[in-house]
Amino acid sequence: MSTVDSQQRVLSGMRPTGKLHLGHYHGVLKNWVKLQHEFECFFFVADWHALTTNYDDPSGIEASSWEMVIDWLAAGVNPGSATLFIQSRVPEHAELHLLLSMITPLGWLERVPTYKDQQEKLREKDLATYGFLGYPLLQSADILIYRAGRVPVGADQVSHIEITREVARRFNHLYGREPGFEEQAEAAITKMGKKNAKLYRTLKRRYQEEGDLEALERARALLKEQQNISLGDRERLYGFIEGGGKVILPEPQALLTPEAKMPGLDGQKMSKSYNNTIGLREEPDSVAQKIRTMQTDPARVRLTDPGEPEKCPVWGLHKVYSDTDTQAWVQQGCRSAGIGCLDCKKPVIDAIVEEQKPLHARAREYEGNPELVASIIEEGCEQARDAARETLEEVRQAMGLRFRR
Ligand code: TRP
Ligand code: SF4
Repeated sequence: MSTVDSQQRVLSGMRPTGKLHLGHYHGVLKNWVKLQHEFECFFFVADWHALTTNYDDPSGIEASSWEMVIDWLAAGVNPGSATLFIQSRVPEHAELHLLLSMITPLGWLERVPTYKDQQEKLREKDLATYGFLGYPLLQSADILIYRAGRVPVGADQVSHIEITREVARRFNHLYGREPGFEEQAEAAITKMGKKNAKLYRTLKRRYQEEGDLEALERARALLKEQQNISLGDRERLYGFIEGGGKVILPEPQALLTPEAKMPGLDGQKMSKSYNNTIGLREEPDSVAQKIRTMQTDPARVRLTDPGEPEKCPVWGLHKVYSDTDTQAWVQQGCRSAGIGCLDCKKPVIDAIVEEQKPLHARAREYEGNPELVASIIEEGCEQARDAARETLEEVRQAMGLRFRR
């Protein structure tokens, strides 16, 4: 029986797209670093997902994967706190993907908005493949195999979490009904004691009859507090609130990553496709060079022309990196032509270089030592596989595929 508290489990993955930039750092990675202290975290390289769109030329995937892991480590993701691994090294994901594919209606996958959107966007590629249609379901397997309750993702991925919830619900509905479920659940209720049993029944009725979501939350919280019931009973009672069977695969929730406030060199969102990035591990000289050559307010042709920070992408960087005094200095100096653009850029360069110092320091340890990175990943894969096997064991049993004598 599972011992997982899925509300405490976080899982997220990233496709290996090459070296990461400061947008990833400020958006995703700082969030991961924070989460690793609060939850049991699994972070992985989604190399199979990369293959769905790059099957015609997979040659870069492996190198990108290693670089990406070094970026994670440089950013402060700590292999002592979080489990880091590579999707294709944990083949259990594939088995769950296959099993889930049996119960997933084609229409659900065809209706996921990213399916058509990406096909439109990547017109030069033939994405009318079986693997690409299954992209969100593979993602569902990634999540459900760890019974992760929380999944940090960007807004573009929310529909994938939604289909994951639907697939989990369908799975539990189909296979969570062990014989005698209701009787066992009833027996489990009485084990909570009179007062709690009564409260549980009331909350369950309020949820089932009135759709009261607060009652659902309260009933779940009530179960979490119970000391006297076994884990199996707890899972039964989680499922019983909603009327179904046992919850074998809990429904995850998206933890929406705050929209990255990190602008790129041209003022648009920092993104590889806009060619406006500063690498997470960019060398100081190169950072300085990139900032110095940044476009500024076009009205400032000469030093004596006043400018307007709101029309200048450098100002966007001051908003991220500068304190209020420096910001006031920029506004005043720019509008009065009291400072030059190079003066103005200096504190930004300094702040970025300063921010990257600890990243470089951590990265250096790994850059010269691929064995070390490999062993971190090796260990992560083993841990991930242990967790994945536990779920798969229950899934096989629920589907009548145990084959044990
Ligand atoms: N599809 C995600 C992306 O492109 C990557 C991913 C794959 C993922 N599997 C996942 C994210 C599981 C969260 C959970 O960003
Ligand atoms: Fe931009 Fe600063 Fe130059 Fe003003 S002074 S135009 S904010 S770089």
